[in-house]
Formats: sequence, C-alpha cells, structure tokens
Amino acid sequence: MDQIRTALITGAAGTMGSAAARGLASDGIRLVLADLKREPLEELAQELPVETFITVFDVSDEDACREAVREVRDHFGTIDILVNNAGVLSNNKLMSTTSDEWRRVMATNLDSAFFLTQACVPAMKANGWGRIINVSSFAAKCGGITAGTTYSVSKGAMIALTFSVAAETADSGITVNAIAPAYVRTPMVSEQLTAEQRQAVVQKIPVKRYCEPEEFAHVVRFLASPNAGFITGEVVDLNGGLQFD
Ligand SMILES: NC(=O)c1ccc[n+]([C@@H]2O[C@H](COP(=O)([O-])OP(=O)(O)OC[C@H]3O[C@@H](n4cnc5c(N)ncnc54)[C@H](O)[C@@H]3O)[C@@H](O)[C@H]2O)c1
Repeated sequence: MDQIRTALITGAAGTMGSAAARGLASDGIRLVLADLKREPLEELAQELPVETFITVFDVSDEDACREAVREVRDHFGTIDILVNNAGVLSNNKLMSTTSDEWRRVMATNLDSAFFLTQACVPAMKANGWGRIINVSSFAAKCGGITAGTTYSVSKGAMIALTFSVAAETADSGITVNAIAPAYVRTPMVSEQLTAEQRQAVVQKIPVKRYCEPEEFAHVVRFLASPNAGFITGEVVDLNGGLQFD
C-alpha cells in the first residue's frame, strides 16, 4: 500500500487553498490547514474525508512559520508536501506603492515561502521525498495586467525561489515547482476589480472565461503526485491562453 502523505497548505481558508485541500484530500493525503483564522479552517476540516490538523499563524512571521512546522511534526511526524499558497493582492503600480505596502506584500507573498521551505526541506531531504508547490501568478510573467508592482515582483521572486530550491534539492527526491495562474474565479479577483475591468479582462483571455478553483487544484494534485517526480523547476501556466510558451 502507498504511504499516506501529509500536505501543509497555507492560505487554506481562501478560495484556491480550500480547493487545493479538497483536491489533495480526494487523493487520500492528510492535510495541515494553515491560515490567519481558525473558524473557516474548522469548517473546511469538517467536510474533508481525511485526517486534518489546523494551525493558525501569520505566514509573514519567521518565528511563527518555524513554530508551526515544529507543531505539525509533533502531530503528524512529517510534512511531505508544502503548498505555499497564502498571498495578498495589491493593485498599486510603482508610483502609488508605499514602502509599508511593499514590505507587507513581500513579507506575506515571498518571505513566507522562503521561511516555510527552509523549515521543511531538511526533513524532506532526510526522507528522500518531498513536493514543494509555490503559487506564483501570471503577473510575474507579464508585469501585471491589473496587478500592481509589488504583487508582480513578489510572484516573480517566487519563481526564482522555485528555480533556486529546485536546483539545490533535485538530487534529494524533492521537486519544487510553481503554478502561474491568471484570473481564477475568486473574491480576490471579483472584489478588487471594477465591473468594467472584469468584463475587459474576460475579453482579453483567449478561452473567454475565468479559471475555476478546481482547475487550479487539479494542477496542485498533479504536481504533488508520485508520478510527477521527474518534473522540477517547472512553472505551470494556468492562464487560458494569455501567453503561449
Ligand atoms: N485569484 C487569482 O486569480 C490568482 C491568480 C494568480 C495567483 N493567485 C494567488 O493564489 C493564492 C490564493 O489566492 P486566492 O484567490 O485563493 O485568495 P484568497 O484571499 O481567497 O486566499 C488567500 C488566503 O491567504 C490567507 N493569508 C493572507 N495573508 C496571510 C498571512 N499573513 N498569514 C496566513 N495566511 C494569510 C488569507 O487569509 C486567505 O485565506 C495567492 O497567493 C494569490 O496571490 C491568485
């Protein structure tokens, strides 16, 4: 029988994080649900058909990340799959971005992935198996259509982090990949764009619709699967044809 794996998903209370949790749960993977608030995680845990563990912490806080990883290890013994999904959107372009906003968005979107990766990799190396999945964005590749400067930079750096850690861990049974979605049908998109912007965006997407959260979850499941072990340092585009490469 295959070993039961454990996945830690940050931002698990959000639309894409909870879709990823449902997807990985359907593959029988035990889940660590991480976010800022306990209640939505408890609601999600109740509907999942697998063992879950809830951890509430701020991913931008280095000590909190390390403590959470310790706590999960005490509970489950291992973290085999890390999904760095927590993130905040900011649509401010260069001249309207404040230094506080720059630090907050970079800390939440990028520092978090660095801290958690650093905390998880030694045990993955010792086990000879690991999957790290970083949620970047199409904004990293196009400079941001509606997304702002800090957001685009944070997601671009997440791709560079993916390449760097992939190169460093490739001989340890660990794969490190990124997903670059564009316009998933989530409140992050619907609440932060005007009705006109939303309509204009759909017209620009060649497939003429938004990405469904379940389509994002499908990519997470694929990258986490045992048979994806030869894929590392890859950025999986999920952009409805906005860019071909
Ligand atoms: N929605 C899109 O179209 C889209 C496109 C590309 C990339 N993304 C990325 O996908 C990820 C998920 O986005 P979503 O649309 O599901 O957003 P969401 O707002 O629904 O989910 C993000 C989750 O992250 C959590 N979070 C934010 N800051 C945190 C912190 N400091 N500590 C712990 N948790 C924190 C939030 O509480 C939230 O539950 C994000 O990284 C986002 O940048 C989204």
